[in-house]
Amino acid sequence: MGDDTLEGRSPPPAHDDGHFDERVAARYDVSAAEMFEPAVVDPVVDFLAGLAGQGPALELGIGTGRIALPLAERGVPVHGIELSRAMAARLRAKPGGEAIDVTIGDFSTARVPGAFALAYVVFNTIENLTTQAAQVSCFRNVAAHLEPGGYFVVEVEIPAAQWLAPGETMRVFEAGETHWGIDEVDVVRQGLVSHHFEQVDGRFERMSMPFRYAWPAELDLMAQLAGMTLRERWGGWRREPFTSVSRQHVSVWQKNTIRALPSEGTVRLSFPDGGLRLDDLVVRLPRPGDEDAVAAAFADEELREAGNLPVLSRDELAEALPHIGALVESGRLAPLVVADASTGEILGGGTLHHLDAERSVLEIGYWLYPHARGRGIATRLARALAEHAFSIGVQRVAAYVNVGNLGSERVLERAGFTREGVVRSLPKPDGRRVDKTLFSLLPGE
Ligand SMILES: C[S@@+](CC[C@H](N)C(=O)[O-])C[C@H]1O[C@@H](n2cnc3c(N)ncnc32)[C@H](O)[C@@H]1O
Repeated sequence: MGDDTLEGRSPPPAHDDGHFDERVAARYDVSAAEMFEPAVVDPVVDFLAGLAGQGPALELGIGTGRIALPLAERGVPVHGIELSRAMAARLRAKPGGEAIDVTIGDFSTARVPGAFALAYVVFNTIENLTTQAAQVSCFRNVAAHLEPGGYFVVEVEIPAAQWLAPGETMRVFEAGETHWGIDEVDVVRQGLVSHHFEQVDGRFERMSMPFRYAWPAELDLMAQLAGMTLRERWGGWRREPFTSVSRQHVSVWQKNTIRALPSEGTVRLSFPDGGLRLDDLVVRLPRPGDEDAVAAAFADEELREAGNLPVLSRDELAEALPHIGALVESGRLAPLVVADASTGEILGGGTLHHLDAERSVLEIGYWLYPHARGRGIATRLARALAEHAFSIGVQRVAAYVNVGNLGSERVLERAGFTREGVVRSLPKPDGRRVDKTLFSLLPGE
């Protein structure tokens, strides 16, 4: 990094309370004092109360209750989802706070009982979700909470990139006596780090927070994916027109009353960064440098056939390995390797793939080099992949084996799977279609 960037020193590590930990929570209402002014809050509450009717309303990232408390005072029952216990504690301690239920969790996935007339996320908080997958999941999660015809309102800034010349990365958004704010934009990743320098007890403290920005059109597409349709877009809470120079937008999507597709799915494909330890084995995502150890499997016809692997050269593998994280996030595929925990030697691999998030169904696959077979490794691997799938919310794990592959059938049976029958004409990576035997495992089996 050059001297003109702050990126190398940001963002700070996140912990259980996310970026709004005790230190931030303790000062939140003071640091954001102007956002608590009636002139700012009243139009927001008027707008939301108008859409909520009798309610109830769900606030994502409810914080210390800046909007939820006055909205509840208007007679709209409000429930919140909040990552930070420290922020939620501030809300509970305020008059009226005890009337607002807060679910501690991530608003892109956390579920709250009930059907809501309105869900809303204000003050750029949607951008706290730093990946596209998490933002898409958030829209789906909102749709799952709304009653048909219910509204989702987002207040978010227009990306700072709008005001940058090509190649520029920094934009000062505030330069006051006691607070300086600088946005650092990464146009390639749609990433943003907001750096705040704030005077506390006579000295300036630095706080940096990561965001992912999205243009209004991308948010509309996320809404569409979740079964919602844009109804209103304004430049502010007083229904100011949204124009080419608007700094923010307030957008209202409505949950479709007749949905073409169900939108309840919120399962997201993931695998622990440090891998899973199975006594003497470790199952992990492959990383740059693994290409030599796995290339033989992709070059071997028998392994490719049994493991459903595509033809990939060592160089193609080396090119793909730095992008495994993005592949997993896309929900399409989590390729895995299984290695000897003490030597690190790669013995085989596996996959989590074809996630059907709406139905919470996931497929697994596995393969082993010949010298690693006969030791029960494949059985333990299949079982571990299924158990990991259940831990992320999957309700049915499927595994398909080529008809006649008795070894692989035995592996699945020993791992507790149930044979369901033959499924006809499934595609292989090379385009052929073959019949396969379907096995499945359900939670608790
Ligand atoms: C900028 S504050 C806004 C708080 C409040 N809505 C307001 O307008 O004052 C963002 C809040 O969202 C919470 N938050 C951020 N990401 C979250 C996530 N993924 N799930 C739940 N809460 C989250 C933070 O902990 C913080 O309390």
